[in-house]
Amino acid sequence: MADLNDPIPAGRDDWWRHAVVYQVYVRSFADSDGDGIGDLPGITSRLPHLAELGVDALWITPFYTSPQHDHGYDVADYTDVDPLFGRLSDADDLVARAHELGLRVVVDLVPNHTSDEHAWFQAALAAGPGSPERARYLFRDDPTDRPGTPPNNWESVFGGPAWTQVDDGQWYLHLFDSTQPDLDWRNPEVPEMFEGVLRFWLDRGVDGFRVDVAHGLFKEASLRDQVVEPGGRPASGAGEMVERNVSDEPMWDQPEVHDVYRSWHRILDEAGADRMAVAEAWTQTPESMAAFVRPDELDQTFNFAWLLADWSAEAFADVITSTLAAVEGVGAAPTWVLSNHDVVRHVTRYGGGEQGLARARAATLTMLALPGSSYLYQGEELGLEQVDVAPEDRQDPSYLRTGEVGRDGCRVPIPWAGTEAPYAFGPGAGQPWIPQPDDWAALTVGAQATDPTSTLAFYTDALRIRRGFAWTAGEEVSMLDLGADVVAFERGPITVLLNCGTAPVELPAGEVLLASGPVDGTLPPDTAAWLR
Ligand code: GLC
Ligand code: MG
Repeated sequence: MADLNDPIPAGRDDWWRHAVVYQVYVRSFADSDGDGIGDLPGITSRLPHLAELGVDALWITPFYTSPQHDHGYDVADYTDVDPLFGRLSDADDLVARAHELGLRVVVDLVPNHTSDEHAWFQAALAAGPGSPERARYLFRDDPTDRPGTPPNNWESVFGGPAWTQVDDGQWYLHLFDSTQPDLDWRNPEVPEMFEGVLRFWLDRGVDGFRVDVAHGLFKEASLRDQVVEPGGRPASGAGEMVERNVSDEPMWDQPEVHDVYRSWHRILDEAGADRMAVAEAWTQTPESMAAFVRPDELDQTFNFAWLLADWSAEAFADVITSTLAAVEGVGAAPTWVLSNHDVVRHVTRYGGGEQGLARARAATLTMLALPGSSYLYQGEELGLEQVDVAPEDRQDPSYLRTGEVGRDGCRVPIPWAGTEAPYAFGPGAGQPWIPQPDDWAALTVGAQATDPTSTLAFYTDALRIRRGFAWTAGEEVSMLDLGADVVAFERGPITVLLNCGTAPVELPAGEVLLASGPVDGTLPPDTAAWLR
């Protein structure tokens, strides 16, 4: 592998420990064939952008055979590529080209549910109640005391009941869309199938997996009602996936799930010490988050507390200290993330406009100095904001189920070059699957690449400087007290300051390596800096 993006010390296999991983949302990254939908050859053609940006790896959202009701998170065949995105040979080409450029490839694994078009679910429908085919999913009869109603009170994350009734009267559980039936992980056929899927992609050379809904696979066996306190209600609507407004969660984070990850750990190890997995686990506490990364389980887990923190020095500092304490206990490195395909882009979360962008850059710079790895979401290196997608263009199943805005606004295709849509997203002149705003000309990769003050230039500088210390600055962080409005810490030779207040802050002595905005002896509000 080329060493341009690869500062990992010789002899270490755990490349992910301090890596920067770039999330590619396959439908919206680059379109090679002009159908307005991103695809695998499109990604391959744009890999040089990622190498120049200086990330270590990319994570690609699901590109497997799928009816696309949840844009690929409804998988009908785990070991093939959807024709929309290409063929298996395109996946091989992508992995090979990425490796040539020194980039690792992480693929998405969706084990909590299949598509309703998966052969197993179709067989379950055909075979009827009581069959071994139905026993791969969570089919149940009406409750005897409440005929005609779902087996329990659980709600789908995308809104509405988590149960759908089939023609013969049985109900099946779906924690997400009704086209995403949940598997029964207590049935040994289910873990066996996924072990095969892991091996299939490992054999094709992928470096790791992002495990979708990793906290969901097991439900409390009784499938009892969820206790909802007066005034509370189960999280619903994808935007609220992050808001845990009930504490009783018989559908999430059950202890049995950890045995699955112990067995996957062994499979990854057999394939090589340099293969990894990262969990998408929305857990309630830092301690339950850390359980997923015990030494014999997965390598990493997303740390959503960082993304959920308000713009406040106290909130950021709390997340840093509690995260480090939790993962230190199990010997894992932390992870950090500010945006992904399920949440409002962080420029917009921090208020949008100039101030939102300044804060987003400052939070990003702070994150990138922390030990562990950072996950970036495509388009954040361009400073993109959440787009207000017109109702007729919205496609998120959560919007279709609830009428609430949903996640389309962070999934608008990337502007690469040119002055009008589709901004070289694809070869044609037509609008992509979600229309792009007409004021993105100044935000394209092409426009920003030649502007040293652009957000793209800022990310590129930050990643270049980060490579110089990521592996040598150690994993210790000492928090400094520079007042209630400032997040400040030292990590090895690097001092980091983030000003969340409204007044400028005196910069301590030292050379400013990089700042997220203009600095001049003082650190202005909404700005962060790295000093040495
Ligand atoms: C995860 C994915 C999300 C998807 C859901 C169901 O949370 O990130 O996009 O809708 O799982 O698979
Ligand atoms: Mg296409």
